[in-house]
Amino acid sequence: MPQLAQRVGRAKPSAIMVIAEKAKQLKASGRDVISFSIGVPNFLPGEHVYAAARESLSHDSGQYGSNRGADALLDAFLEHLERLGFSGYTRANLSIGIGAKHVLYNLAEALLNEGEEICFAAPYWTTYRDIADIVGARVNVMHCGAEQDYKLTPAQLDAALARKPKVFLFNNPSNPTGMVYSAAETAALAEVLVGYPDTWIVTDDIYNSMVFDGIGYHNFVFTRPELRERVIFVDSLSKTYGMPGWRVGLVAAPESVAIALTTLNSNHITSLPEVITAAAVAALSGPQDIPQAKCAEFAGRRDTVVAALSAIPGVICPQPQGAFYAFPDISLAFGKNHHGARIDNDVEFCAALLEAKGVACVPGSAFGEPRAMRISYTCPSAQLEQGLARITEFFDELT
Ligand SMILES: Cc1ncc(COP(=O)(O)O)c(C=O)c1O
Repeated sequence: MPQLAQRVGRAKPSAIMVIAEKAKQLKASGRDVISFSIGVPNFLPGEHVYAAARESLSHDSGQYGSNRGADALLDAFLEHLERLGFSGYTRANLSIGIGAKHVLYNLAEALLNEGEEICFAAPYWTTYRDIADIVGARVNVMHCGAEQDYKLTPAQLDAALARKPKVFLFNNPSNPTGMVYSAAETAALAEVLVGYPDTWIVTDDIYNSMVFDGIGYHNFVFTRPELRERVIFVDSLSKTYGMPGWRVGLVAAPESVAIALTTLNSNHITSLPEVITAAAVAALSGPQDIPQAKCAEFAGRRDTVVAALSAIPGVICPQPQGAFYAFPDISLAFGKNHHGARIDNDVEFCAALLEAKGVACVPGSAFGEPRAMRISYTCPSAQLEQGLARITEFFDELT
């Protein structure tokens, strides 16, 4: 029997999907399950997006498209970049992918030789680790616990960059913590980055339009434009436009990187379909009221989640300021019992919570922080409140 390639053996199925599957099974067996597990927005894009898709279908050429992305999409992305505060990019800096996940995978292939180092902060989005493992990169994780609001400090970054990693991968706003770096925090990290010219900087900032409390979105190049030579900005329509299934990822980068990604596209995917491209252009260029309204709605839900979790004695829930995740430290529960069953870690905690209360959350160890769990709060408000009440009840019952 021939063997699979070693790189496949290094890939693990997503821990998030494992919990989601278990929740689905319980639901199918008739249990009343509230899922806080998957990070999908609970809204659809505006009618103008569907209208553009229908219109595109009516004169579809049926042909392959551009490996880099259609000009109309690149131009709509350029407009979007300017709205966010970027300047100086042209079509030559851009490329596309089948979602940000695909862009990140292509970037790992384009930037990292086997054995080279990539560093990123923990808690991290699970896929970072898996992609690095698949391409055989070495991973240096910078641990950022609840006591530092899950945020990377300039000193931590400096220590990691002194090891001369090939890539520093940054995520703002963060999945899983919902943390957002302020203008001053981003600028302070940028000051460190200018001192290490041999490291690529990937900013996975796909939740950039979901920032609360007037903090705004900030990137290293805003205060240090010279970093544009090394900063690769990754974006997606999945979360902020309610279009995860449409699979549109976008990237703004130095020209050499955009060319490399486009070459990989020419060998992997060829192009985005015309209908998807038309919908993406409509989302980026059309009215921005849906993303804005959703951002306000999620800020309100964040308040509900933080209030409920902070009222549980011993639970520490740093205040998220973006995306739609909360990441409470639940480690006070470790070593305790729930109806006689001992809970020793986050995985046992989440399994017991799902079993006893029908609430699905993702164990923090999936994100490199085993003292916490992730709550994705995109479900309808009534369910959210019910789920939070059940979590509170669960903690009350610990002995
Ligand atoms: C931080 C982060 N980056 C990238 C992605 C992938 O997004 P896409 O749907 O565009 O592949 C996700 C999805 O959950 C994410 O949370």
